[in-house]
Amino acid sequence: MSEILKMQNISKSFPGVKALQNVNFSVNQGEVHCLIGANGAGKSTLMKILAGVYPKDEGEVYLQGEKVTMSSPADSKRLGVITIHQELSLVEHLTVAENIYLGSYAQPRFGFVSWKRLRKQAQELIDRLGIAIDVDTPVSELSMGHKQIVELAKALEGNAKVIIMDEPSTTLSENEIRTLFTIIEELIKQGITIIYISHKLEELFAIGDRVTVLRDGKWVATQKLDELDQASLTELIIGYKMEKQVRSTEQPNFTELLRAEALHTRQISNVSFSLGKGEVLGLYGLVGAGRTELLKALYGVDPLSAGAIYLDGNQVKIDSPSKAIRVGMGLVPENRKTEGAILGLSVEENAVLPAYDRFANGGIISLGRIRSEIADKIRELNVKTPDALTLMGNLSGGNQQKVIISKWLIRKSQIILFDEPTQGVDIGAKQEIYKIIQRLVAEGASVIVASSEINELQEICNRILVMFRGSIVGEFRDPQAQKEEILKSAVTGGTTLWNT
Ligand SMILES: Nc1ncnc2c1ncn2[C@@H]1O[C@H](COP(=O)(O)OP(=O)(O)OP(=O)(O)O)[C@@H](O)[C@H]1O
Ligand SMILES: [Mg+2]
Repeated sequence: MSEILKMQNISKSFPGVKALQNVNFSVNQGEVHCLIGANGAGKSTLMKILAGVYPKDEGEVYLQGEKVTMSSPADSKRLGVITIHQELSLVEHLTVAENIYLGSYAQPRFGFVSWKRLRKQAQELIDRLGIAIDVDTPVSELSMGHKQIVELAKALEGNAKVIIMDEPSTTLSENEIRTLFTIIEELIKQGITIIYISHKLEELFAIGDRVTVLRDGKWVATQKLDELDQASLTELIIGYKMEKQVRSTEQPNFTELLRAEALHTRQISNVSFSLGKGEVLGLYGLVGAGRTELLKALYGVDPLSAGAIYLDGNQVKIDSPSKAIRVGMGLVPENRKTEGAILGLSVEENAVLPAYDRFANGGIISLGRIRSEIADKIRELNVKTPDALTLMGNLSGGNQQKVIISKWLIRKSQIILFDEPTQGVDIGAKQEIYKIIQRLVAEGASVIVASSEINELQEICNRILVMFRGSIVGEFRDPQAQKEEILKSAVTGGTTLWNT
């Protein structure tokens, strides 16, 4: 196999952070080359240098043996290096075809644009990916998975040589991930090279040829995936052997803290359940089953059209998030970039937002107390940031997640709702988040976790509820032993006998 891309001795610093130090990265023509490393290891930065988003401080980039400069995204694109960003770049109200040819409007190749021809070409590109999408559909009507396919079609339109996928699977359902893999195989057949970033080891083993591991901004290893197993790859990523977690299987004595009675919103119907003190309750279901919508109903984001919520036996009216926060709830939302974090504020400001009243003494906010408590949390949760004044937007994804969790710790919320808490979080940090959840409940809080990873729920929950089309269809009290039943219930919506 010939080398298509070589990055040599790449270094890049941001204020206070050496994001990359003398990194070497070499990719062969026609392979799926995976890039992995803990949150903040430098993966996205390395790829952004390749995509012309950031200038490098030092080093060289070679494409097909020739030294190249990528000083803008347009440069990279012209050279055939295309990035599928995690934040997709589609325009929601335009159609699929319009999105695919968005870039081409600006530079009509023959002086004018034949819309009919472009439409036909767009359909051909989509068909090439083997997926049934009508190019006249507005993008806003597509599922997340189909949106990503449109992004890929856009990339093909640009005559890509190398396609970079930075955590493409985080927002996809399992079916959609399988489709994505089929498409990747198709692209490889067409001679395209793929760089694939993900924290999910199973995906790497399923789709990758080789893997490069970064740790703390440095190159650690490049190896063939079929010469590695999960344990050895994990060790390369975190730099030490991971001890197996010992989960306490003890069921807490059930004392009801929260009860939901026949909740209805536009997206959920007739949802009743209760949450115990010190309990970790899981919400499982396929994408679109209503888990996020249930959390939003509890948190006062989506108004209830019927039903009631009780806390400690008293009915509470939660009609806004600020009300939810006041009665002691906190939400760690699914989409941290748009909902959970304010990227333009500092780590400190993000961490303390909901808790200002706790630090206010007769109207005066004690900055000293805030600072010292935040410093404690940053240390406890092992957040990688130069300091608390760094902008949230400059932190890597997993570290943003930890800051969002820390704000509810600082606020001392008694019920914390987690929506996909470990999405885009590396395996080391994942275990840390599980530990944080365990500590929360040990300290008397209660937790609801919605997740599409059944293994995750099995590992941390005392009880799992399964949702299907907006309703709860099953309750599982022995999650470790009931994987098959849980999966079945989620797929079929079949009501299971409530087993005690
Ligand atoms: N624009 C920026 N300004 C300042 N620091 C940054 C910027 N972008 C990244 N960093 C820092 O550089 C380091 C590497 O970040 P990068 O986003 O490349 O990590 P990553 O490996 O992609 O992590 P994740 O798995 O969480 O996405 C981190 O410490 C991050 O905080
Ligand atoms: Mg990244």
